[in-house]
Amino acid sequence: MKIKNAFPKDFLWGGAIAANQAEGAWLADGKLPNVTDTVVGIMSKNPSIKWNKEKNIWELDLKDDMTYLSHEAIDFYHRFEEDIKMMSEMGFNSFRTSISWSRIFPRGDEEEPNELGLLFYDRLFDTLLEYGIAPVITLSHYETPLVLVGEYGGWTNRSLVDFFERYATTVFERYKGKVKYWMTFNEINNAFRMPYVSAGVISFPPTNSEKPFGDIDNKVIYQACHHLFVANAIATKRLAEIDPEAKMGAMCSFSALATYPSNSDPENVFGAMEFRRKSWFFTDVMCRGHYPSYVHRIWDEEESAPEMLSGDLELLKENTSNYIAFSYYRSAVYDKSAEMRVDTGGAKGFDNPFLKYKAPEPWSWPIDPKGLRYVMNELTDRYELPLFIVENGLGIAEIPDDNNEIKDIERCRYLQMHVQEMAEAIKDGCAVLGYLWWGPIDIVSAGTGEMKKRYGFIYVDRHNDGTGDLHRQKKDSFNYYKQVIESNGENIDINI
Ligand code: BG6
Repeated sequence: MKIKNAFPKDFLWGGAIAANQAEGAWLADGKLPNVTDTVVGIMSKNPSIKWNKEKNIWELDLKDDMTYLSHEAIDFYHRFEEDIKMMSEMGFNSFRTSISWSRIFPRGDEEEPNELGLLFYDRLFDTLLEYGIAPVITLSHYETPLVLVGEYGGWTNRSLVDFFERYATTVFERYKGKVKYWMTFNEINNAFRMPYVSAGVISFPPTNSEKPFGDIDNKVIYQACHHLFVANAIATKRLAEIDPEAKMGAMCSFSALATYPSNSDPENVFGAMEFRRKSWFFTDVMCRGHYPSYVHRIWDEEESAPEMLSGDLELLKENTSNYIAFSYYRSAVYDKSAEMRVDTGGAKGFDNPFLKYKAPEPWSWPIDPKGLRYVMNELTDRYELPLFIVENGLGIAEIPDDNNEIKDIERCRYLQMHVQEMAEAIKDGCAVLGYLWWGPIDIVSAGTGEMKKRYGFIYVDRHNDGTGDLHRQKKDSFNYYKQVIESNGENIDINI
């Protein structure tokens, strides 16, 4: 199967990880915990924190019976040179990761950054650049420092805007000229479905000290979102001043934009539209620069309008995103009779009888490559901004076979189908900066906190019980992705 002339010459091919799912070394060189360090799986309703009555703060409270795999993860902190070399062998010209905010400002509220943290990213970015790989950087991939949540109440507190500005300014100045593509907050549109990791929202002070999520209503989350939007606008502004060549993207989880009505019942069509607006809302603010009209009715009816300072709306208006980065894994079907359940990779309502493939069990996410093309076209129609697919991938439970090989043909097929639909979207007129596979090397799953759910072209010997020698090994898909990249997306035949 050949795709002719779809991808521009400078198309960015690569992969994406997040600091908290790969680096490990969770307390090394001055780093303090962040929100993801307190959970096993970001959907957790029970983070390992406890209310300290004397100090009136939430603080870390690790449980003996839980395995926090992310604390060591795949030890990317110490092994990144070997890993980047393998990615370069696959032909990557770009690689997305996040800076772990609490390596740079361990508490989050310090005046001065932690030099050891900055030095780590100096080494990481320099290594990438030596291999001709452009770093694509997220400022916070669910990585708000725990102190800012436990002592300040997270993003509902306006002071986080200033702390974030200090952090963003520090890294923009330090890595100026080395990083061209930045993103502020990973999947910012998950603030409602994962308020703790996404927006650092917690019951503060708690109404029930056993329950960190005691009485959080939508007003609290809209307030946190408003602060995230203001912080995003300020970071966009500061980046343009410090490094005018660099670009700042809005980053959203857009699997949920591929939500189809279950049939032509107007109730289902309208319901699907309202569900999709929960995702549009975030890019509507960040890319158009103002709150969309539909949210005012919600705010009135729920009494959930956030408080704003004078000047906030101007900031949002004047500092819109330069491009749209998004993750896409699967689509969903909305039906008025079914509850839409949401998790890391998207949403689930009804099963879609028209889709031929599903990811292997136990996760079984539906596979819908055309959904990617649909989302890309919709985004282009609405915003006319460049798109950057910064996450797409397939999680499989896999271990080497008796010949010590990992034959992951399903992963190759998933990649093939999505590259093909992305090419179609480009022909449809979508401007696309690049395509980054999620988890090109096995990392800890964000949703489940497990190693068992693997996305990589590179296998890492680490297991759910914490055993494994961490050695790296190629899967069959390694050479397949290499071939796709080498041919700039023209040769997507699978010959394994
Ligand atoms: C995205 C996140 O939602 O989905 C990643 O940005 C995450 O951090 C990815 O790993 C896949 O989800 P999961 O739960 O399979 O790891």
